[in-house]
Amino acid sequence: MMILKLLLALLMMLSINLRSSEATCYNVYSRSEVYALQSILAAWNESTPDMTTNLAGWSSSQIFPCYNNQSWRGVICSFYVDNITDPCNFTVNIVVIHLTAASIVGTLPSAIGHLTRLVELTLTDNPGLSGNIPKELGNLTNLVILNLSNNGLNGSIPAELFRSNRSSNRSVIRQSTLQQIDLSNNQLSGNLPNLGGASWLQSVKISNNKLTGPSPPFYDPGTDYGFMNMTELNTIDLSENELVGSPPNLTAIWRLQSVNLSSNYFNGSIIPTSIFNTSANLTVLDLSHNNFTGLLPDLSTFSNSLTQLNLSFNSFNPEPYPAWVKGFNQLSMLSLKRNGLSGSFPYDLASLPNLEIL
Ligand SMILES: *[C@@H]1O[C@H](CO)[C@@H](O)[C@H](O)[C@H]1NC(C)=O
Ligand SMILES: *[C@@H]1O[C@H](CO)[C@@H](O)[C@H](O)[C@H]1NC(C)=O
Ligand SMILES: *[C@@H]1O[C@H](CO)[C@@H](O)[C@H](O)[C@H]1NC(C)=O
Ligand SMILES: *[C@@H]1O[C@H](CO)[C@@H](O)[C@H](O)[C@H]1NC(C)=O
Ligand SMILES: *[C@@H]1O[C@H](CO)[C@@H](O)[C@H](O)[C@H]1NC(C)=O
Ligand SMILES: *[C@@H]1O[C@H](CO)[C@@H](O)[C@H](O)[C@H]1NC(C)=O
Ligand SMILES: *[C@@H]1O[C@H](CO)[C@@H](O)[C@H](O)[C@H]1NC(C)=O
Ligand SMILES: *[C@@H]1O[C@H](CO)[C@@H](O)[C@H](O)[C@H]1NC(C)=O
Ligand SMILES: *[C@@H]1O[C@H](CO)[C@@H](O)[C@H](O)[C@H]1NC(C)=O
Ligand SMILES: *[C@@H]1O[C@H](CO)[C@@H](O)[C@H](O)[C@H]1NC(C)=O
Ligand SMILES: *[C@@H]1O[C@H](CO)[C@@H](O)[C@H](O)[C@H]1NC(C)=O
Ligand SMILES: *[C@@H]1O[C@H](CO)[C@@H](O)[C@H](O)[C@H]1NC(C)=O
Repeated sequence: MMILKLLLALLMMLSINLRSSEATCYNVYSRSEVYALQSILAAWNESTPDMTTNLAGWSSSQIFPCYNNQSWRGVICSFYVDNITDPCNFTVNIVVIHLTAASIVGTLPSAIGHLTRLVELTLTDNPGLSGNIPKELGNLTNLVILNLSNNGLNGSIPAELFRSNRSSNRSVIRQSTLQQIDLSNNQLSGNLPNLGGASWLQSVKISNNKLTGPSPPFYDPGTDYGFMNMTELNTIDLSENELVGSPPNLTAIWRLQSVNLSSNYFNGSIIPTSIFNTSANLTVLDLSHNNFTGLLPDLSTFSNSLTQLNLSFNSFNPEPYPAWVKGFNQLSMLSLKRNGLSGSFPYDLASLPNLEIL
C-alpha cells in the first residue's frame, strides 16, 4: 500500500492521448481520484472474475481509466478544457462507476470518498461485495444516484449520506445532492438514519435488509441534520426489514406517491393525517404484514389517486367491510385479507373499473 501511494505521488497524473489524428492532447487526471480507483481495485483483488470481461480494463498498470480504447469497464470520465487557448489540454474527472453483475468479491474502501466528482455510483448484483458502506461516501458532494442493491453489504447505513450542512447562524451551506438511493437486498442492520437532510431525494429503497428499531421522521426541523424540506421525495420502500413502532411521520412530504412499509413490525393504529400529507397524490400504499391494530384506516383522501392498496395481514379490529372503499375509482389492486373483516362484501365494489381484489 505504501509503495503504491509513493509511486502515485511520484507520477505526474498526466496521460497522453491521441484524441484526434493530428494533435497530441494531454489528459490531466486528479491524483486523488486515480488513487481512489487503485484503492478500489486493490480491495477487489479477491475477485474471481475474468478481468477481461467483468472488470475488463481495471488494472494497476494502466492507471488512467479513460485511456483511449483501453478504458476501464463501467467507468465514465468527464473531459474539461480549462484554458480555451489550449484546447488540447483536458482536466479529467471520474463521474460514473456503473458495474452490474461483475462478480466483484471484496469491500468498498474508504478511499472511495476521494471521487468527489462522482455523479453516479452503481454497483449492483455482486453478492460477493460485502463489508460496510463507508461513511466517506458522504463526502461525494456531487453524487446524484447511489445504487448498491443486490450485494452482500452489511453494517449500518451511514447517516453522512444524507447530510446537508448548515452554519452556526443556521443558513444552509451545503445541500446533499442525492436524488436516488437504492440499498435493497443487502444485509444492512442498525437503525434507519434521519433522511431529512437530503432535500433532493426522490426515491429511497432499502427493502429486504435487517434494519431494526423505530423509523425516524423523514423531516425534523428541530435537528441539525433532518431540517431540509423534502420537496422531491416520491418513493419510499422500507419493506422486509425489522422496523418497529409507529410508521414514519411523512406529513411534510407532499409529493409522495408510493409507500411500501410491508413486512416489518410496525404497530399501533393508523391515523392517516398524522402519517401522510393529505394533499399528496398517493398511488401505491402497502402496509401489509405488520402488526397494525385499531380501525381500518379511512384513506378516502386518496380516493382519486390510489391504484394499489394493501392492508392485508395485520391485526385490525374485526369490522364490516369498509364502505369508503367504494369511492376509490382508480383502484386496480385491493387486499384486505386476514384482517377479520366481517359482513358481506360490498356489492358495488365489483363495479370499480379496474379492480382486482386479492
Ligand atoms: C489482496 O490484497 C491483500 C491486501 O493487500 C493481500 O493480502 C492478498 O494477498 C491479495 N490477494 C490476492 C489474490 O492478490
Ligand atoms: C487500441 O487501439 C490501437 C490503435 O487504434 C490498436 O492498435 C490496439 O490494438 C487497440 N487495443 C485494444 C486493446 O483494442
Ligand atoms: C492558456 O494557455 C496559453 C497557451 O498555452 C497560455 O499562454 C496561457 O497562459 C494560459 N492561460 C491560463 C489562464 O492558464
Ligand atoms: C494543462 O493545463 C494545466 C492547468 O491549466 C497545467 O497545469 C498543465 O501544465 C497543462 N499541461 C500541459 C501539458 O500543457
Ligand atoms: C460483515 O461482513 C464481513 C465480511 O463478510 C464480516 O467479516 C463481518 O463480520 C460482517 N459484519 C457484520 C456486522 O455482520
Ligand atoms: C470525509 O468523510 C470523513 C468521515 O465522514 C471525514 O472525517 C473527512 O473529513 C472527510 N474528508 C474530506 C476531505 O472531506
Ligand atoms: C438499482 O439497480 C437494480 C439492479 O440493476 C435495478 O433493478 C434498480 O431499478 C436500480 N434502482 C434504481 C433506483 O434505479
Ligand atoms: C459541515 O460543516 C462543518 C463546519 O462548518 C464541517 O466541519 C463539516 O465537515 C461539514 N460536514 C459536511 C458533511 O459537509
Ligand atoms: C422549509 O419550508 C418552510 C415553509 O415553506 C420554510 O419556511 C423553511 O425556510 C424551509 N426550510 C429550509 C431549510 O429550506
Ligand atoms: C410529524 O412531523 C411534523 C413536522 O413535519 C410535525 O409538525 C408533527 O407534529 C409530526 N407528527 C407527529 C404525530 O409526530
Ligand atoms: C394532485 O393531483 C391534483 C389533481 O390532479 C393536482 O391538482 C395536484 O397538484 C396534485 N398534487 C401534487 C402534490 O402533485
Ligand atoms: C401485535 O400487537 C399485539 C397487541 O399490541 C401484541 O399482543 C402482539 O404480540 C403483537 N404481535 C407481534 C407479532 O408483534
